[in-house]
Amino acid sequence: MNPQQIKLIHLLAGAEAVSGEQLGVALGISRNAVWKHLQKLRGLGLEIQAIAGRGYQLQAPLELFNKETIDAALHQHSLQLPGRLIIQAETASSNDDLKNLPPEQQHGSVIIAEYQSAGRGRRGRTWVSPFGRNIYLSMGWEFQHGVNQLAGLSLLAGLTVVEALASFGITDTRLKWPNDILRGKAPALAKLGGCLVEISGDIAGPCQATIGIGLNLRLPDDIDIDQSWADLRDRSDISRNTLAAEIIARLLQALPVFSSRGLEPFIEAWNQYHAYAGETVHLCGPDTSMTGVALGIDKHGALLLQDESGIKTIHSGEISLRRK
Ligand code: BTN
Repeated sequence: MNPQQIKLIHLLAGAEAVSGEQLGVALGISRNAVWKHLQKLRGLGLEIQAIAGRGYQLQAPLELFNKETIDAALHQHSLQLPGRLIIQAETASSNDDLKNLPPEQQHGSVIIAEYQSAGRGRRGRTWVSPFGRNIYLSMGWEFQHGVNQLAGLSLLAGLTVVEALASFGITDTRLKWPNDILRGKAPALAKLGGCLVEISGDIAGPCQATIGIGLNLRLPDDIDIDQSWADLRDRSDISRNTLAAEIIARLLQALPVFSSRGLEPFIEAWNQYHAYAGETVHLCGPDTSMTGVALGIDKHGALLLQDESGIKTIHSGEISLRRK
């Protein structure tokens, strides 16, 4: 996205329609060039309507991410990022951008993107990331201990998101092990967000984590996602900046605790949001496939599954609810 396109978005971000002529004058370009830029923005997922006789207007007003607003919201929590806060209009993946920062700048830095052209989910999946609608956020954190002790980090990230949402009165969210954030009424729970934690470093430590969070605030109705999804369209009153700041604030408070005490202090809270607590689920893992009752998580972030032979500790895999 070039600077003219970014300026164009700012011109359209208000509630009023703006004529092609006004846009052209503001940008110092022809109406035809304006039209070409608008086409590019539509391709990124912006819904721009052309209203006869009035000009162009966004289908819904847009609140762009703003560094000062987020910094101010953190300040209200008496918090400050140890690293940098970077807002990207367009990027391939905020997780990759975070990992590409100089190593000494990664700890405590946050990158938030308006649009990702190659957003990544777990297991090589794509994370659909249209412009200006959702939250795509990555935070870097360095831990002194080794990779093995960070297994619970994506569970912690999911917990901070549902707790941030609860602070806005959104309480119909659930956590699906290991990293999904669901919304709705059981059994019709749909995916609202997810966490992708990527770790590099030494087995014995220190190591660097990139904590990536994707959260759907408003997806286009015709979006092509191969699973049932949810968003927060019924809560358009919530500011994207305030919600992003709330998630960052909760990460800033939780990560030092996790760093010194691991997942233990968070187990109870995670289990309270557990989507399938006490339900019979099917686990499909790299070397196991089993059916059992999902009991909850342990201090290593493993899922405890009970079948007729006892309680099994599951470290990786995908679970699905077994239909009755
Ligand atoms: C999943 O549920 O599979 C995890 C989705 C994680 C998506 C986020 S969006 C911000 C960060 N950048 C990425 O490319 N992925 C994560």
